[in-house]
Amino acid sequence: MTQTAVALSTDARAAIVDALNQSVAETAVATMLAQNFHWNVKGMAFGPLHDLFQKIYEDHFIAQDDLAERIRALDAHAEGTLAGMLNRSKVMEHGGHASDKEMIKAMQNAQEILAATLAGAGATAAEAGDTLTEDLCIARGQVHEKFAWFLRAHLA
Ligand SMILES: [Fe+2]
Repeated sequence: MTQTAVALSTDARAAIVDALNQSVAETAVATMLAQNFHWNVKGMAFGPLHDLFQKIYEDHFIAQDDLAERIRALDAHAEGTLAGMLNRSKVMEHGGHASDKEMIKAMQNAQEILAATLAGAGATAAEAGDTLTEDLCIARGQVHEKFAWFLRAHLA
Protein backbone atom coordinates (compact mmCIF):
# COMPACT_ATOMS: atom_id res chain seq x y z
CA MET A 1 0.00 0.00 0.00
CA THR A 2 1.29 3.44 -0.84
CA GLN A 3 1.28 5.98 1.96
CA THR A 4 1.95 9.68 2.05
CA ALA A 5 4.18 11.17 4.73
CA VAL A 6 1.25 12.31 6.86
CA ALA A 7 -0.14 8.77 7.11
CA LEU A 8 3.04 7.16 8.48
CA SER A 9 2.98 5.66 11.95
CA THR A 10 5.27 7.24 14.56
CA ASP A 11 7.59 4.22 14.55
CA ALA A 12 7.77 4.03 10.77
CA ARG A 13 8.51 7.72 10.48
CA ALA A 14 11.25 7.48 13.15
CA ALA A 15 12.91 4.59 11.34
CA ILE A 16 12.80 6.40 7.99
CA VAL A 17 14.09 9.65 9.47
CA ASP A 18 16.96 7.85 11.18
CA ALA A 19 17.94 6.19 7.90
CA LEU A 20 17.71 9.53 6.10
CA ASN A 21 19.83 11.29 8.74
CA GLN A 22 22.39 8.51 8.31
CA SER A 23 22.29 9.13 4.56
CA VAL A 24 22.71 12.90 4.97
CA ALA A 25 25.63 12.42 7.36
CA GLU A 26 27.51 10.05 5.07
CA THR A 27 26.77 12.17 2.01
CA ALA A 28 28.12 15.24 3.81
CA VAL A 29 31.30 13.49 4.98
CA ALA A 30 31.82 12.17 1.43
CA THR A 31 31.30 15.71 0.08
CA MET A 32 34.20 16.97 2.20
CA LEU A 33 36.26 13.92 1.32
CA ALA A 34 35.81 14.62 -2.39
CA GLN A 35 36.70 18.29 -1.99
CA ASN A 36 39.75 17.35 0.08
CA PHE A 37 40.93 15.02 -2.71
CA HIS A 38 40.05 17.60 -5.38
CA TRP A 39 42.45 19.98 -3.64
CA ASN A 40 45.26 17.60 -2.72
CA VAL A 41 45.46 15.04 -5.53
CA LYS A 42 48.79 14.91 -7.38
CA GLY A 43 50.29 12.95 -10.25
CA MET A 44 50.06 12.56 -14.02
CA ALA A 45 46.28 12.07 -13.81
CA PHE A 46 45.83 15.32 -11.88
CA GLY A 47 43.49 16.94 -14.42
CA PRO A 48 40.84 14.20 -14.76
CA LEU A 49 40.98 13.28 -11.05
CA HIS A 50 40.69 16.93 -9.99
CA ASP A 51 37.61 17.13 -12.25
CA LEU A 52 36.11 13.81 -11.13
CA PHE A 53 36.41 14.67 -7.43
CA GLN A 54 34.74 18.02 -8.19
CA LYS A 55 31.91 16.26 -10.01
CA ILE A 56 31.43 14.05 -6.94
CA TYR A 57 31.36 16.86 -4.37
CA GLU A 58 29.03 18.98 -6.49
CA ASP A 59 26.62 16.04 -6.84
CA HIS A 60 26.83 15.23 -3.13
CA PHE A 61 26.29 18.82 -2.03
CA ILE A 62 22.94 18.90 -3.84
CA ALA A 63 22.06 15.42 -2.58
CA GLN A 64 22.60 16.32 1.08
CA ASP A 65 20.06 19.08 0.61
CA ASP A 66 17.53 16.82 -1.13
CA LEU A 67 17.83 14.15 1.59
CA ALA A 68 17.67 16.66 4.46
CA GLU A 69 14.66 18.39 2.94
CA ARG A 70 12.90 15.04 2.63
CA ILE A 71 13.39 14.70 6.40
CA ARG A 72 11.73 18.10 6.84
CA ALA A 73 8.90 17.06 4.53
CA LEU A 74 8.38 14.17 6.95
CA ASP A 75 8.13 16.82 9.67
CA ALA A 76 11.27 15.71 11.50
CA HIS A 77 14.58 17.32 12.45
CA ALA A 78 17.44 17.19 9.96
CA GLU A 79 20.70 16.81 11.85
CA GLY A 80 22.86 19.71 10.70
CA THR A 81 26.07 19.62 12.72
CA LEU A 82 29.38 18.34 11.42
CA ALA A 83 30.12 16.72 14.80
CA GLY A 84 26.83 14.83 14.71
CA MET A 85 27.39 13.75 11.14
CA LEU A 86 30.91 12.51 11.81
CA ASN A 87 29.68 10.67 14.87
CA ARG A 88 27.18 8.57 12.97
CA SER A 89 28.85 8.33 9.53
CA LYS A 90 30.41 5.06 8.38
CA VAL A 91 32.26 7.10 5.73
CA MET A 92 35.42 8.33 7.44
CA GLU A 93 37.38 11.54 7.07
CA HIS A 94 40.83 11.31 5.49
CA GLY A 95 43.91 13.43 6.09
CA GLY A 96 44.37 13.95 2.35
CA HIS A 97 48.01 12.88 2.40
CA ALA A 98 47.87 9.96 0.00
CA SER A 99 48.75 8.86 -3.50
CA ASP A 100 46.24 9.31 -6.31
CA LYS A 101 45.50 5.56 -6.24
CA GLU A 102 44.93 5.59 -2.48
CA MET A 103 42.52 8.51 -2.89
CA ILE A 104 40.63 6.67 -5.63
CA LYS A 105 40.37 3.57 -3.43
CA ALA A 106 39.22 5.59 -0.41
CA MET A 107 36.57 7.36 -2.50
CA GLN A 108 35.43 4.07 -4.06
CA ASN A 109 35.01 2.68 -0.57
CA ALA A 110 33.00 5.75 0.48
CA GLN A 111 30.72 5.37 -2.55
CA GLU A 112 30.12 1.69 -1.79
CA ILE A 113 29.25 2.50 1.83
CA LEU A 114 26.85 5.18 0.61
CA ALA A 115 25.23 2.86 -1.93
CA ALA A 116 24.59 0.33 0.86
CA THR A 117 23.26 2.97 3.26
CA LEU A 118 20.90 4.38 0.62
CA ALA A 119 19.72 0.90 -0.41
CA GLY A 120 18.98 0.20 3.26
CA ALA A 121 17.17 3.52 3.68
CA GLY A 122 15.11 2.73 0.59
CA ALA A 123 14.17 -0.67 2.00
CA THR A 124 13.14 0.92 5.31
CA ALA A 125 10.94 3.39 3.45
CA ALA A 126 9.48 0.63 1.26
CA GLU A 127 8.58 -1.44 4.30
CA ALA A 128 6.47 1.46 5.58
CA GLY A 129 4.89 2.07 2.19
CA ASP A 130 6.69 5.41 1.83
CA THR A 131 7.34 5.12 -1.88
CA LEU A 132 8.32 8.77 -2.22
CA THR A 133 11.28 8.44 0.16
CA GLU A 134 12.06 5.05 -1.35
CA ASP A 135 12.32 6.62 -4.81
CA LEU A 136 14.76 9.30 -3.61
CA CYS A 137 16.93 6.69 -1.87
CA ILE A 138 16.97 4.39 -4.90
CA ALA A 139 17.99 7.27 -7.17
CA ARG A 140 20.80 8.26 -4.82
CA GLY A 141 22.00 4.68 -4.39
CA GLN A 142 22.28 4.34 -8.16
CA VAL A 143 24.42 7.49 -8.38
CA HIS A 144 26.77 6.15 -5.71
CA GLU A 145 27.15 2.82 -7.50
CA LYS A 146 27.91 4.71 -10.71
CA PHE A 147 30.63 6.74 -9.01
CA ALA A 148 31.99 3.53 -7.43
CA TRP A 149 32.29 2.08 -10.95
CA PHE A 150 34.00 5.24 -12.29
CA LEU A 151 36.57 5.00 -9.51
CA ARG A 152 37.03 1.22 -9.70
CA ALA A 153 37.69 1.50 -13.45
CA HIS A 154 40.80 3.60 -12.72
CA LEU A 155 42.32 0.76 -10.70
CA ALA A 156 41.60 -2.09 -13.17
FE1 LIG B 1 38.14 23.76 -7.27
